Amino acid sequence: MTLLVRNLSQIATPAGRIARRGAAMRELSVMESSVIVVQNGRFAYVGPENEKPPELLVDEDFDANGATAVPGFVDTHTHIPFAGFRESEFNRRLQGESYEDIAASGGGIAATVRATRKATEEQLTANVLARAATMARYGTTTAEAKSGYGLDKECELKQLRAIREASERSLVRLVPTCLAAHDFPPESRGSEAARQGYVSTIVSEILPAVAEEKLAIFCDAFVERGAFNAEQGEAVLRAGAELGMIPRLHADEFSDCSGAALAASVGAASADHLMHISDDGIAALAASDTVANLLPATSFFLMSDRYAPARKLIDAGAIVSLSTDCNPGSSMTESMQTVMQLATLQMKMTVEESLTAATLNSAYSLRMAKEIGSIEIGKRADFVLLEAPSYLHLVYHFGVNLVSAVFRDGRRVL
Ligand code: NIG
Ligand code: FE
Repeated sequence: MTLLVRNLSQIATPAGRIARRGAAMRELSVMESSVIVVQNGRFAYVGPENEKPPELLVDEDFDANGATAVPGFVDTHTHIPFAGFRESEFNRRLQGESYEDIAASGGGIAATVRATRKATEEQLTANVLARAATMARYGTTTAEAKSGYGLDKECELKQLRAIREASERSLVRLVPTCLAAHDFPPESRGSEAARQGYVSTIVSEILPAVAEEKLAIFCDAFVERGAFNAEQGEAVLRAGAELGMIPRLHADEFSDCSGAALAASVGAASADHLMHISDDGIAALAASDTVANLLPATSFFLMSDRYAPARKLIDAGAIVSLSTDCNPGSSMTESMQTVMQLATLQMKMTVEESLTAATLNSAYSLRMAKEIGSIEIGKRADFVLLEAPSYLHLVYHFGVNLVSAVFRDGRRVL
C-alpha cells in the first residue's frame, strides 16, 4: 500500500537517528508545499510533490486539508496500568494538604497499590487500553508504561502482563518498564530490615520472574527521601541490567538525592523528574548519554512553582526529553500537547526544543530513535496531523486538542 498525504500547510520535524542536544534541539526541518508518501508502513518520500520519485506509484490519496504534520509524540514516562482514580486526594490537595502529607497518611501510591492489587489482569488491561486511547487522540503514537502499583511478585507480573496484553490491541505502541522499586509495600514498612528485605525480593525474585517472561525492556526505581535510597536504587538497577533490562531512574523529584549522577553512572536510558537536580547533577547528565526526561505536568498538577531547570540542562548540553508522567496521583493527564505547553510557558523551552524533546529525544531514550521520532525516509510512518497552519500553534493555540488525524506504521488509527 502506498499512501500520499497532500495539502499540508507544513511538515515540521527534528532530523536524525540519534538524540539532539544543545542548540541542535532548536533546529527543526520545516517544509512548506510538501507531501508525505508512505509505503509498507514507512516514510518513502517527504518533500515537494513534483520531485517525488516516479517509481513511487500511489494507490491512496489523503487530503490533509491544510493541516501541519509532526512526528507522533513519544511519551516515555507513564504509570498507566493502575486501578482506581484519586480525585478525592486531589480535592484534599486543593484545600491545602501536600502530596507528601497525603502519602504519609496512607494515601498516595499506597492507595493505588490497594486498588491495583484487587483488580484482575483483565481490568488492568482495559484500563491501559483506555489511557492509551486517550493518548492516541492527543497525538501519542508510542508510550512507555510502568508497573509499580503491585509491589509484590504476583501483582507486578499482573501489571506487566496487562501491558503486554493491551499492546496487542492498543492504538499506541507500548514499551514496558518494571518499576517494582516504586515504593515499599505496606507489609515491608515496619522496619529497616523489612525494607531491605523488599529490595532483596525485587533483586532475587521479582526481576528474575519478569525477565523469565520477557515482560519488560526497562527497569526503573524511585530514589527519594521516604522511598529507596541511592544504594538500594543502584542495587535494583544493576540487578535489572544483569537480566537484560535497561535502567531508568526517578531522580531528584522532591529533594536532591544525587539521583541524576547515579543515573548517569549506571548508564541509565533516562533520569526523570529532576525538579531538585543539583549543578553537579546537570554536569553529570550533560557529560553522558542519559536523557534528562522532564515532566512539567507533575509540577503543574502538584501546584508547585518548582519546575526542572530545563534551560540550564539544555544550555549545558544534556539531552532533554518530555513526558506526561500519566498517573492517578501526581499527573492525571495523557496529553503531550499540554506537556509541551508547560515546557515552553513554564520551563522556558522554545517550541522547537519542546517538539524535539517530545519526539526524537524521547525516541532515543526508548532506544528507538533509528525507527521512530521524526518524519524521515526509512523510519516507521508515525505522524500526526494538527489542525493548524504551523507547528507554532502547538503552544500558541493552547488548551485545545489540535490533532485531526493520527497515523501509526503508516496506518490511520484515528
Ligand atoms: O512519577 N514519583 C513517583 N511516582 C509517581 C507518582 C505516583 C503516584 O502518585 O501514584 C510520579 O510522580
Ligand atoms: Fe513517575
